[in-house]
Amino acid sequence: MTSGDRDPLLEPRPGGPRMPRHRSWAEPFRIKMVEPIHLLTRAERVAAMAAAGNNTFLLRSEDVFIDLLTDSGTSAMSDYQWAGMMLGDEAYAGSRNFYHLEAAVQRYYGYRHMVPTHQGRGAENLLSKILIKEGDHVPGNMYFTTTRLHQELAGGTFHDVIVDEAHDATDLSPFKGNVDLAKLAALVDEVGAERVPYVSVAATVNMAGGQPISMANMRAVRDYCRSRGIRVILDATRAVENAYFIQRREPGFEDRSVADILLEFCSLTDGCTMSGKKDALVNIGGWLALNEDDVFEEARNLVVVYEGLHTYGGLAGRDMEAMARGIEESVQEDHIRSRIGQVEYLGKHLIDEGVPIVLPVGGHAIFIDAMRFYPQIPQDQFPAQALAADLYVDSGVRAMERGVVSAGRDPETGDHHYPKLELVRLTLPRRVYTQAHMDVTWESVAELFDHRADARGMRMVYEPKYLRFFQARFERL
Ligand code: F0G
Repeated sequence: MTSGDRDPLLEPRPGGPRMPRHRSWAEPFRIKMVEPIHLLTRAERVAAMAAAGNNTFLLRSEDVFIDLLTDSGTSAMSDYQWAGMMLGDEAYAGSRNFYHLEAAVQRYYGYRHMVPTHQGRGAENLLSKILIKEGDHVPGNMYFTTTRLHQELAGGTFHDVIVDEAHDATDLSPFKGNVDLAKLAALVDEVGAERVPYVSVAATVNMAGGQPISMANMRAVRDYCRSRGIRVILDATRAVENAYFIQRREPGFEDRSVADILLEFCSLTDGCTMSGKKDALVNIGGWLALNEDDVFEEARNLVVVYEGLHTYGGLAGRDMEAMARGIEESVQEDHIRSRIGQVEYLGKHLIDEGVPIVLPVGGHAIFIDAMRFYPQIPQDQFPAQALAADLYVDSGVRAMERGVVSAGRDPETGDHHYPKLELVRLTLPRRVYTQAHMDVTWESVAELFDHRADARGMRMVYEPKYLRFFQARFERL
């Protein structure tokens, strides 16, 4: 495959210059069904935000104009996926759609065994219960909320071993998701390899801004772990997006297909947890994949307790079919280019407006640096929570806090975790919004930035015990 095959718009014209002038990409689909959305009046938006306790998770979807809360389960399915929904085999055991899904995971991700789960955290629960024992330590390239919680509930302690650049929103390194091998080795030396059941590697790294890991780093992690007898488990939720960044940024991969890079990347790991609700273009679904026979045997036993029989894992047959087809579509070059191209389009406009965002722009979202956006609001007054509320009131755009509220409390001391990154995430569903929606979004953020001096912080008035960001409530100070 050559880069010309990847991007026919850039093929040289016969007799013309080898590199044509800049050409825009366009979405590789046309729209054949629409879902109306409405913008409430400002007074209605103020009332809706107050009723939601200033938490965008507690808004009603109907009150939202452009929903950038998450890219999870919010993507648009294709006609090919919808056609597959009609071919659901809803047998309790041995559904044909399970075998399609299994074949797709084996073909595109390369793992030997898999069990379906209702979504990513279902797979995280099974994996943590199987591999983690009380007192174990799990290193990872930055925490993710549900992943870390399942590790802790299973008796493990999570340790962040991501490179320092990941915590710096202005650092322009191309692979800010990389594992810091020195931090990893220091931890293993301290606690002993026998207390480290696996290294938890996410690609791309959601909480760092959707930043990728390089193939070279993944290989180094694999080599190190192999020498110490430690497994590597991938969080493959956005691994296709990671593969695209490798193709674009890592020397030696420019002429390899995204599908090919994905397969090589996964081959460096021993298994994966997966939320199919992101890369795999479905509204619900996930899986746990493993290469080791005995670990898989336990997963196949345990899935029956928490999810459902090992040939459906909490999903309908039609859901498994949609996911099998979504996997196929997710690695197509034109799809992934326009998916990340849209994120880059939004990022470029915000950068041009001087808005502080995490750089380089990541795969699934733009992350606004709330501590630089609202420098007058101290972190314990939740600047990112305040900015997400302000954005909704300004334009009906729903974003998500990814800062001190999401980070939760230290289970030992009870204090807030204070992450270095206090962010608001504008997350783009796949194949859902147009360039005009992106324009409305950046114009609103730019407007708030012009008037940033007026902003005030928040006080938390209700705090749930687990994953508090979902249901906490706030009052404006
Ligand atoms: N891992 C990563 C990197 C994720 O981003 C998510 C979910 C999960 C695991 C859990 O998967 O939701 O299917 O149970 N992230 C969503 C988000 C919720 O908005 O970033 P799940």
